[in-house]
Amino acid sequence: DEAKLKTWYIGSIDQGTTSTRFLIFNGLGVPVASHQIEFKQMYPHSGWMEQDPREIVESVYTCIEEATKSFTDMGNSTDDIKAIGITSQRETTILWDRETGEPLYNAIAWPDTRTQAIVRELKARKGADKLQDICGLPLSTYPSALKLTWLFRNVPEVRRTYDAGRLMFGTIDTWLLYNLNGGKDKNVHVTDTTNASRTMFVNLHTLEYSPEVLDFFELDPQKLILPKIVPCSDADAFGSIASGTLKGKRITGCLGDQSAALVGQLGFEPGMAKNTYGTGCFLLYNVGEKPVMSTHGLLATVAYNFGGKRKPVYALEGSIAVAGSAVKYVVNNLKFVESSAQISDCAATVKDNGGCYFVTAFSGLFAPYWIDDAQGTMFGITQYTQQGHIARAAMEATCFQTKAILDAMEKDSGHKLTELAVDGGMTDSDLCMQTQADIINIPVDRPMMRETTALGAAIVAGFAVDVWKEFEELKEINKEDRTIFKPQISQEDSGKMYSRWTKAVEMSRGWLD
Ligand code: G3P
Repeated sequence: DEAKLKTWYIGSIDQGTTSTRFLIFNGLGVPVASHQIEFKQMYPHSGWMEQDPREIVESVYTCIEEATKSFTDMGNSTDDIKAIGITSQRETTILWDRETGEPLYNAIAWPDTRTQAIVRELKARKGADKLQDICGLPLSTYPSALKLTWLFRNVPEVRRTYDAGRLMFGTIDTWLLYNLNGGKDKNVHVTDTTNASRTMFVNLHTLEYSPEVLDFFELDPQKLILPKIVPCSDADAFGSIASGTLKGKRITGCLGDQSAALVGQLGFEPGMAKNTYGTGCFLLYNVGEKPVMSTHGLLATVAYNFGGKRKPVYALEGSIAVAGSAVKYVVNNLKFVESSAQISDCAATVKDNGGCYFVTAFSGLFAPYWIDDAQGTMFGITQYTQQGHIARAAMEATCFQTKAILDAMEKDSGHKLTELAVDGGMTDSDLCMQTQADIINIPVDRPMMRETTALGAAIVAGFAVDVWKEFEELKEINKEDRTIFKPQISQEDSGKMYSRWTKAVEMSRGWLD
C-alpha cells in the first residue's frame, strides 16, 4: 500500500561515464536524497580516454555517504533502505590481479579509439564474419573485448598475470561489486546479463560465454578469470556493502545504464523504446524475448533480465558515442559558455544552424554508420557563422544520428515508432528536444523526473526484495508532468537538413593515415 511504499527506500548507485551519483528512492519511485560528483577523465593521446579505477570506487563511497547524510538529516532512518541497486557505464574495461586486488592499468573508457588498428587487423581474421551473429555486436573499438586485446599486447604486467592464472576481468559493474564487497578477501566476481552482453564474449542466444568468441580473441578461459553472469535482479549474487554508513546493506540489482533507463522508463512491452542523452546517446528498442540481429547497423543486446520466472528480454540498440560530450567540448575546449546548462541559451542566440553542420565523430562514428576512422568535422563555416550556430550544430549532431538510428530500427523491426521517450542531461534543453522532434517528425516525450537510469537500478533491486512483485505495480511511476514536444517544421524542411547532415557524415570519413 501507499503508506508502506512511501517509507520503503532503495539506494541506487549510478556510475556514469563522467559522473557518479547515489540516489535514494522511495517505493513510489520518487527520489528523496541524492549526491553527484564528477570524476577525472584522462586523455593521454588523441582518441584515448582513461579513468582511475580507484577514484571511481571512491566517488561511489563519497556519493553514498553524502546522500545518506541528507537522507538521515531529513529524519529518515537507514533501516528503511531495503536494498541497493547498481547501474553503470558499460564496456569500460578494468583488469586486476586476484592476489592483490589492485588494477593493472587505468580503466579504458568505452569511447576510447586506441584499438582502431586492432579492429582493422581482426576484421581480416578467420571467423570475424561470424562474430556478430553470436554476440550481437559488430567488431569495432566499442566493446570490451578490443580494449582487453590492447591491454594484452601493450601492458606486460597483464600478460604475466594472465600466464599466472590470476588475471581478473571486469566492466565497471564488476569492479564496483568486487570493491564494495570488500575486494580480494571476499572475491565477489560477478556481472549481470546486460553488462556481460557488451563485452563481445557472450553468446546472445545462450547468455553464456562463447568459446568461439574467446577463441577468436585468443583467450584461454582457463587462464582469464571472467565474472560469473547472473540476472539483473538477485537477492544474493551481488553481496553487500562492506563499509561506511550503509555497511551490511544488500546489493540486489545490477544492470548497464542504458538498460536501467529503459526499465526506468517502464519500457517493458515489445515495441517500446527510449533514448538517453548522457555522455553518449543510446536508443534501446524492446524486441521481446528473442534477440533480433540487425542488418542495418544497430546492435543486438540484452535489454534486461529480471530472472526467476521472467525470461530475459532483448533490445535493438542505436549507440551514439558523442552527445553530452559534444556539449562539454563546446564548453571546455571552445569556451563559448561556462557550463553545459548554458549551451541552450547560446544556441538560442541564432534562429537556426545557419548552414553549419558539426559531425561530432570524436570516437569515430557509431550506429548506424560504424565509421571507425571518421574524425570530428565541421562544415558550412562562413564569415556569417557565430558561436550560436556551432553550439546548435553540436546539439543537432545527436538529433540527426537519432534520426538515422530510427530509420535503421524501422527497417530492422518493421515498425515505425510513433513517439520517442527521452531522458538524460541534454533533455533539459527545450530547444534540443524541439529540434529532435522536428528532425524525426514524431513527438518527443520527456518525463519530469529524469533520473530514469538510477530509477531503473532501484526497480531491479526492489524486485529482488519484493518491494514490488509485478510490473503492473509500477505503472503510475513518473507518469505525471511529462512534456511532449511536437514536430513544428515540415517534413520537407527537416528532410533537407538531414540530407546535408548525411553528406557531412560521408565527408568525415578516412581522415586517418
Ligand atoms: O555504452 C556506454 C554507455 O553505457 C554510457 O552511458 O550515459 O554514461 O553516456 P552514458
